[in-house]
Amino acid sequence: MKHYAFLRKLALSPRKIAGFLPCAVLLAAGVAWAAPVAVPIVLTGADRRPATSLNGEWASIVDPYFSGLFSFHHEEKANGWFLNRKAQSGDAFPTEYDFSKAPKLKVPGDWNTQRDSLFYYEGPIWYERDFSYQPKEKTRVFLHVGAANYHSWFWVNGTKVCEHEGGFTAFNCDVTAAVHSGANFVVAAVDNTRRQDNVPTLETDWWNYGGLTREVSLIEVPDHFIDQYDLHLSRGEGSVIEGWVHVVDAQPGAKVEVEIPELKAKATAEVSDGGRAAIHFDVKGLERWSPETPKLYKVEVRTGQDSISELMGFRIVETRGTEILLNGKPVFLRGICIHAEAPYRTGRAYSDKDAETLLGWAKELGANFVRLAHYPHDETMLRAADRMGLLVWSENPVYWAVQFDNPKVLAKAEQQLDEEINTYRNHAAIILWSMANETPNTEARTRFITTEATRARELDPTRLITAALLVRAEGHTKIVDDPLGKALDVIGTNEYIGWYEQKPETADATEWRVAYDKPMIMSELGGDAKAGLHGKDSERWTEEYQANIYRHQLGMLNRIPQLRGMSPWILMDFRSPNRPLFGIQDEFNRKGLISDQGQKKQAFFLLQKAYKEKTVGKAE
Ligand code: GCU
Repeated sequence: MKHYAFLRKLALSPRKIAGFLPCAVLLAAGVAWAAPVAVPIVLTGADRRPATSLNGEWASIVDPYFSGLFSFHHEEKANGWFLNRKAQSGDAFPTEYDFSKAPKLKVPGDWNTQRDSLFYYEGPIWYERDFSYQPKEKTRVFLHVGAANYHSWFWVNGTKVCEHEGGFTAFNCDVTAAVHSGANFVVAAVDNTRRQDNVPTLETDWWNYGGLTREVSLIEVPDHFIDQYDLHLSRGEGSVIEGWVHVVDAQPGAKVEVEIPELKAKATAEVSDGGRAAIHFDVKGLERWSPETPKLYKVEVRTGQDSISELMGFRIVETRGTEILLNGKPVFLRGICIHAEAPYRTGRAYSDKDAETLLGWAKELGANFVRLAHYPHDETMLRAADRMGLLVWSENPVYWAVQFDNPKVLAKAEQQLDEEINTYRNHAAIILWSMANETPNTEARTRFITTEATRARELDPTRLITAALLVRAEGHTKIVDDPLGKALDVIGTNEYIGWYEQKPETADATEWRVAYDKPMIMSELGGDAKAGLHGKDSERWTEEYQANIYRHQLGMLNRIPQLRGMSPWILMDFRSPNRPLFGIQDEFNRKGLISDQGQKKQAFFLLQKAYKEKTVGKAE
């Protein structure tokens, strides 16, 4: 049968026989012998590479007990559903699944909004898709997954190709050895079960959309290929582009070229031992990227048979005391928070259209900045932010109380941080890497996030590190002295005066005491309102009440000397299981300035006026 053909393929050697005996025994017992499976890799600019899309309808089987992978003794099965087996007449055992008869789920897309029966579903679901492929000489092929929430396993033609944890970052599985010419199939198991030691953990204020939530494709690269590269404008020397290009399995002395045809600028460098080539070249006449002038350049990155045509802007961001400098000039971040909730259809956002609509509304609001909460958003959002000229806060989903004293959880947070930074590092729009949101002030937490911040700085010293902190109060004084502030370049603080605490008017009497001589961003403020619900501005849930919160906030914000930005919570209403108030919330967090159906609330126009007339915030 199939398994033994597999053994034959391995050309058994005495050492191997020794090695495989246990596996043969295990196989006979129907227990999986886990051949070491390659760890998925991160590809920078994967969405700029030619690819064979695997988007569309996939067969799907809901498997709440995960019996497609685990036996009745919770051992991983050797003959699990990843084999996509078809029952044969005369089989000595039943095959109790058949993808060819299974209902479909669209990819990309969360499963919750595709089928009513899956709206609240949390657990494993199997996906299967057939595809044809022709292997090529000197060519490697990767299964590119834009995101799979939360824990996912992938097999090609029954061979396990990778496993991944984390629902909001892209990963790439090498399937070169698993594909063959002609008909192939890929099977995925995706489990969005929330667990204490996950990142994020059990509690979130967003819908736990499960599935293959972003695009899936096959990407071909030559044997020696570019997996990651970093190109940025040097902070020291204003007209110098520097960075590096990393080549996998580089030939000794391999050459790398980086060219910006529009600027007639080109650099050639040699790959060193570790596979990296250092890039450093002068560019004349470069127009720096900014919200006012979101200039993007075509950038060719080449080595050997491999090349990537990037589209990117060049700008410098830094701090000076309590100022944030963009291209050397102080800037005030007129922002808004955004969840990756799709406008109108709801569900996890992923498309160019979702990005255009959400960021279009932010531009209409008069924003030059968006906080993409609380996890890395789809690359379509970042491409659109680069194009539309919106500065971005991008966040690692260390949200509320993850297990800060659990080293495994730190490793998961670091893995997701690496994937976020290494995938998104060339987006000029991103100026801030956020390490966390509203975490409890404990030593374990401060150690955990300080470690994360140090890693982020090592990975990318060209951007600013921040986090959204909780603040404490003494009477009408808000005090920002969370020890985590030491590890940050920019302090983010969340407050809900007028909603979770006190009255909207209380903001008029509220003073802020900030223990850090650093730029500060009010990373959340606001209150809920049901679009179209009207009344006195003292009546909760009305548009008038929400607008009243904003009216009093603006005055307070202007009294905070080092405030260099703000991102009210939130651009658009989004689904949350914590919000059951029927007739008003209906499982939506209604703090949006716009409803999920695009209705703009009074507060939208109030903030728009302040942003357009620049009556809130001081850059210096
Ligand atoms: C918190 C949190 C958000 C949440 C918001 C709210 O501050 O960061 O994720 O949605 O408050 O309560 O509406």
